[in-house]
Amino acid sequence: MKKALITGVTGQDGSYLSEFLLDKGYDVHGVIRRSSVDFRERIAHLEGKEHFHLHYGDVSDSMSMLQVVGNVKPDEIYNLAAQSHVQVSFDVPEFTADVDAVGVVRILEAVRQCDLEKTCRIYQASTSELYGKVEEVPQSETTHFHPYSPYAVAKLYGYWIIKEYREAYDMFCCSGILFNHESERRGETFVTRKITLAASRIAQGKQEKLYLGNLSSLRDWGYARDYVECMWLILQHDKPEDFVIATGVQHSVRDFAKLAFHYAGIEVEFRGEGIDEKGYDLATGKAVIEVSPDFYRPTDVVNLLGDPTKAKTELGWDPSKTPFEELVKIMVDHDMQKVAVERAGEHVKQNLEEYLEKGIIK
Ligand code: NAP
Ligand code: GDD
Repeated sequence: MKKALITGVTGQDGSYLSEFLLDKGYDVHGVIRRSSVDFRERIAHLEGKEHFHLHYGDVSDSMSMLQVVGNVKPDEIYNLAAQSHVQVSFDVPEFTADVDAVGVVRILEAVRQCDLEKTCRIYQASTSELYGKVEEVPQSETTHFHPYSPYAVAKLYGYWIIKEYREAYDMFCCSGILFNHESERRGETFVTRKITLAASRIAQGKQEKLYLGNLSSLRDWGYARDYVECMWLILQHDKPEDFVIATGVQHSVRDFAKLAFHYAGIEVEFRGEGIDEKGYDLATGKAVIEVSPDFYRPTDVVNLLGDPTKAKTELGWDPSKTPFEELVKIMVDHDMQKVAVERAGEHVKQNLEEYLEKGIIK
């Protein structure tokens, strides 16, 4: 039975990757951090399974990583741990560098210190943010990098240190340069999930308006569930190499919002420009989407489009498994249901309080 160690196991990708590897028959070990709220929503359904194990650790703490790697002795490590929010990296640049850049070398060194460098394969969660202020469209494995945020600069260090250890010590370590991938488990402050949740709340009368930043920003959005397969395929390849993982299809934030609201039952038309642009509900004439400069970034990456040819031909991966329209629908359907359940819960609570107050129930 192969052993995999996943850092970032509680995140969107960590949860899907755990499910994927358990299905493949792996013994899966995840690294978790102590938090005052011990509610690990994305992996709660896996806890207690025979081949799923959790270990406390932190990629900013060398000793803890050394201990986990030494105890588990994994065949494969998937380093997904990161402060992964680009806008937040402008507020906490030093912390982001510690986790997203130096964290990578801590793992590589832990593997070496534990004498596992000839047996343990390492996957590094790299990113299309490396292309930043893009120098070529579409972007492939040969496109120049131009990082455009503290997050991207930190991830660039991760990319190069992986390459360095591969060449210097002949280690099987690779970067997957993944373009944006989303899902119903996506963090609620990333633009797609922020939109699908807001559309669901507005449709069900729980929210008035959605405020967004740059509506014209272009992304190559895929489904996270499909992308974790690629992480595994990269480590099963006969030689260690880096791969671009993307769909090869591009949409704007505006396109995403229009479609999400459509699936939530609201037809939206955008009018105006820049900060004055608004999305109007065609049925009521009310503005349901507005622009707020609070969500503008000091430097913004606005034109990401990946070329997945290498992953398709060398790994046999299918970039068109979940088209854009299906992804948006999956997310909206999930959030419409989530909001409906929340509303039902509020209703029950209200009734209960009323009955208690009136002495109908004790
Ligand atoms: P996510 O949902 O934000 O998850 C990040 C994970 O990292 C969480 O489990 C978090 O743990 C953990 N973490 C953060 N700091 C840590 C630390 N110091 N030590 C240990 N664990 C730590 O991110 P995601 O979307 O799943 O992305 C996974 C990885 O892929 C990240 O490295 C991200 O930068 C990269 N990536 C993502 C995308 C995308 O579109 N999703 C694209 C390209 C690359 P807590 O739960 O304790 O906070
Ligand atoms: N978050 C957010 N919130 N973004 C907004 C908003 C808003 O209200 N309005 C417009 N945007 C624009 C951002 O300016 C950006 O250009 C785009 O929407 C996407 O933003 P995010 O969803 O936050 O994702 P990201 O592309 O910055 O970063 C994600 O993808 C990277 C891969 O390219 C993260 O998952 C990173 O960890 C990942 O590396």
